[in-house]
Amino acid sequence: MPFDIAGLLAARAGEGYALQGKYVNAQVPRMLHAIGFDKVFERAEGAYYWDADGNRYLDMLAGFGVHAVGRNHPVVRQALHTVLDAGLADMLQFDAPLLMGLLAEQLVARSPGMERVYFCNSGGEAVEAALKFARCATGRPRVLYCDHAYHGLTAGALSVNGADEFRKGFGPLLPDTRIRFGNIDDLERELRKGDVAALLVEPIQGKGVNIAPDGFLRDAQTLLRAHDALLIVDEVQSGLGRTGRFYAHDYDGVQPDIVTVAKALSGGFVPVGATLMRPGVFEKVYSGLDRVFVHASTFMGNALAMTAGLATLSVLDDEQLIANAHARGDELMNGLRAIAKTQPTIVDVRGRGLMIGIEFGKPPSLSGKAMWSTLNAARPGLFAQMVVVPLFTRHRILTQVAGDYMPVIKLIPPLCLTSDDVREFLGAFAEVMAGAEKPSGLALGFGRTLVKQALDRR
Ligand SMILES: Cc1ncc(COP(=O)(O)O)c(C=O)c1O
Repeated sequence: MPFDIAGLLAARAGEGYALQGKYVNAQVPRMLHAIGFDKVFERAEGAYYWDADGNRYLDMLAGFGVHAVGRNHPVVRQALHTVLDAGLADMLQFDAPLLMGLLAEQLVARSPGMERVYFCNSGGEAVEAALKFARCATGRPRVLYCDHAYHGLTAGALSVNGADEFRKGFGPLLPDTRIRFGNIDDLERELRKGDVAALLVEPIQGKGVNIAPDGFLRDAQTLLRAHDALLIVDEVQSGLGRTGRFYAHDYDGVQPDIVTVAKALSGGFVPVGATLMRPGVFEKVYSGLDRVFVHASTFMGNALAMTAGLATLSVLDDEQLIANAHARGDELMNGLRAIAKTQPTIVDVRGRGLMIGIEFGKPPSLSGKAMWSTLNAARPGLFAQMVVVPLFTRHRILTQVAGDYMPVIKLIPPLCLTSDDVREFLGAFAEVMAGAEKPSGLALGFGRTLVKQALDRR
């Protein structure tokens, strides 16, 4: 029988959780079931997707940031169809693909100071290239990274991961060194040792949505230059318009030596990453014909990934999505700050554009304090999970906790979010938070969800 993907999807509909449980990462369906997230979704468009019963969900997560232009964007889809149907001589490996050159040209045009691009298949790979290039360009072994940093989970990227829970069990890692995020004295102390290749930093950390303190990146760049070390800025999550500027580091007035991007560049369709370099870095790494493929990957620059990237950049411009991210971000932050005034468990609302964190903390009331201490003793950050679950199960809005053990939830919706979507989110969030600090509030509802899900499973 000829292969029939539509027939296969129809015949096996609804089996995803069972198959993952049996053949892939069995912990994922277990976790999703425990918190009531184990739905089957059928369709998606823009900032919404629909479950098998036709219920609409609002997406405030954008697939960890990949759906920046909105899910299934018609322009990106059409471009992919066109290139697929063109039957190109793709991944020939011994030619110079036009699409790769065109996407590099577009990225460089949007990245002042950058001259060349290395393409790969993910954010982690873009970081791996940055780590290798910085070592090679400086001839030094050590990269500095920040606490709470997240740059991916491949071995090199894990060596610069600022959270011990990810590193545990995978050592020994590279001899990189953690400094406090935003602490210039830590940076200077390490640079004085003379063996530092680079500082790798997210301008806004994905884990916790921590913004680099005012002036930190500028001061860091000055110090790094004085010590002949490089500044690598990881824009895998914060880049390509998410924060209301093309790069989040545009707010900091720096021109890094190396920049990494990925996620949004995919258009939500084809995995892709890119490492951009200032003049001088490339020449050190690819220093002669004998080193022509000294760092490379088989799929780099494939036609579908390059097309997705080109179409995505065009949609960002044509639909003015970066300005929209700025405006909708302001609306969200203003609304959240108004809610925070009435909710003692919200201790901070922070972010830029559509990368926003809501931090919870111990409320002043006696019952609130008791509730907070009990939850934190059970698991630090549990309160944030108790907000994320009813937003999804009661209001059909997908958000996430901003990192393990963190009392912070993160909003990184598609950049095409509308003012109506903002109002929908704020209304739902205010309702979930009402009475949050009372024992009869969030904790009880969360407990009921866990019990119901556990009973369902039996
Ligand atoms: C800042 C940053 N860098 C790197 C990565 C790793 O990207 P990937 O998951 O595509 O390997 C991520 C992923 O979340 C990220 O947020």
